[in-house]
Amino acid sequence: MKKVITYGTFDLFHIGHLNILRRAKELGDYLIVGVSSDAFNAIKGKKCAIADHERMAIVEAIRYVDEVIVEDNWEQKISDIQKYQVDTFVMGDDWKGHFDYLKEYCNVVYLPRTEGISTTQIKKELKLK
Ligand code: CTP
Repeated sequence: MKKVITYGTFDLFHIGHLNILRRAKELGDYLIVGVSSDAFNAIKGKKCAIADHERMAIVEAIRYVDEVIVEDNWEQKISDIQKYQVDTFVMGDDWKGHFDYLKEYCNVVYLPRTEGISTTQIKKELKLK
């Protein structure tokens, strides 16, 4: 069984999120998604509209997703890959090159982002209304 892992915030879940989860699952048989905790986002200077346990529940309900874990620090990726015996690590290409150090542990794939949508953009548009 080929295992795939990806990480993200998934705030205000949108079509770009759905697309990357679908394409990530196509790269294997079992998809694990690390959802960033509110505490981890605070460290990154990011504030979510939706609380972490709700973001996790939403991601967990997506049919392409087999397992959801919490992401709460920068360092856990290597230990997650080892613990879950991950074959492929996936991120959107806004992160291209950033996780190449993981190639020592598994395949690293950057998928093209869905154009024209992001959580940041949705938040901006909502403020205008
Ligand atoms: N993603 C994507 N296409 C988009 C938006 C996001 O493929 N249009 C991917 C990202 O590349 C990442 C995952 O979805 O691998 C989770 O991204 P996240 O940062 O949670 O979403 P964004 O909409 O990019 O949020 P923000 O604007 O806050 O950065």
